[in-house]
Amino acid sequence: MNILILGSGGREHAFAWKIKQSALCDRLFVAPGNGGTANLAENIALSETDFDAIKAFVLKENIEMVLVGPELPLVEGIYDYFQQESSLNGVMLIGPSKLGAQLEGSKSFAKYFMQRHNIPTAAFEEFTLENLEEGFDFIEKNKAPFVLKADGLAAGKGVVITESREEAKESLAEMIRDAKFGKASSKVIIEEFLKGIEFSVFVLSDGSDFLILPNAKDYKRIGEGDQGLNTGGMGAISPVPFVDEKLMEKVIERVLKPTIEGLKKEEIVYKGFIYVGLILVDGEPKVIEYNCRMGDPETEIVMPRLENDLLSLLQACSEEKLADVEVKHSALHGATVVLVSGGYPEAYEKGKEMQIPLNDETLCFHAGTKIQDGKLLTNGGRVLAVSALGTSLEAALDKAKKQAEAISYTGKYYRRDIGYEF
Ligand code: AMP
Ligand code: GLY
Repeated sequence: MNILILGSGGREHAFAWKIKQSALCDRLFVAPGNGGTANLAENIALSETDFDAIKAFVLKENIEMVLVGPELPLVEGIYDYFQQESSLNGVMLIGPSKLGAQLEGSKSFAKYFMQRHNIPTAAFEEFTLENLEEGFDFIEKNKAPFVLKADGLAAGKGVVITESREEAKESLAEMIRDAKFGKASSKVIIEEFLKGIEFSVFVLSDGSDFLILPNAKDYKRIGEGDQGLNTGGMGAISPVPFVDEKLMEKVIERVLKPTIEGLKKEEIVYKGFIYVGLILVDGEPKVIEYNCRMGDPETEIVMPRLENDLLSLLQACSEEKLADVEVKHSALHGATVVLVSGGYPEAYEKGKEMQIPLNDETLCFHAGTKIQDGKLLTNGGRVLAVSALGTSLEAALDKAKKQAEAISYTGKYYRRDIGYEF
């Protein structure tokens, strides 16, 4: 089978690494890819959202499956585009329909979906320019902390959590009145603050059935001890130590089954990954968010712990045969440490030459790198994700951190405390 992966991060490198191991894989392309995918697959200079160019490439190279990594092409309707183009009808596209992708593309859509299907989540109210004054009143009458979320995609920056009533009002005004995130913040959700520990569950849905992939916990803040600015993700562990069978049973019965059944009932086509961000409040799981794709950097540790042939799973997903498949999780513990460019998530420099020593105890997934004149250079905020497996979380972390230390480039930074709570 010829396969095209869309995306350019560590997640896509991990997908490529896993797919490359499949006996079903013939040619593998990544668009646009990075310095790591260049060694495993053929990088193609295509934009993830240029559907016409993707179509032309798929037809030219006889691509039979397109795996969509990031949310943007999904929210912009790549699934529907493939359905509507008769020449693409035989091509398997892994990802939800445009409406299904609204689970991530619109916080309001996701909240009302959860309300309709009785899925536990934080209580919320929705505000727009029409009822902005009511939004200010709402903040005035309610207790801190305030959680404000821009409705649409805002590159991970659309959530404000503040103890200050004044700051909450200012943020609400900035988002709605001053269009801080453009159309994405013309609607804002204000929701109940939930206190608890977060974890992520990943499922692959074929529209009727679903498989549960290894769970994970990611670390989003730049600083150790979860301090400082939010990032795309600084590390992850899998499995999550406190997620036992009893908790998973609750997640399955209260969240996963109602989500898949809700999609089916509403005739929302969904053949792809659902990333469910959860928080454990007094022993009860509640949904913080849905994403219509896999997590990054979680994929970089979930793929190494997944023992199935990924390509077979994806094919079964597309053919609506997931009921016949069983997921095999590795019994080993896994950890990923993300190496970033100095300054990230604020301004940072690119183009630093890198040295990655060979190490057969770790996997090194590239996030923001490129090869230029035969040299490997940094090319993004998040640069590498170093993953390792071990018989304990500590053993996995030790291996990953040792390799993170040994890698060199100017400005290298990584968190040494991934998994610190356990
Ligand atoms: P989101 O983009 O919805 O995942 O929100 C980003 C982060 O904000 C989450 O990973 C949580 O750490 C935090 N967060 C979001 N919603 C809430 C909430 N209702 N209560 C507490 N923290 C939240
Ligand atoms: N690791 C967070 C995300 O993928 O959204």
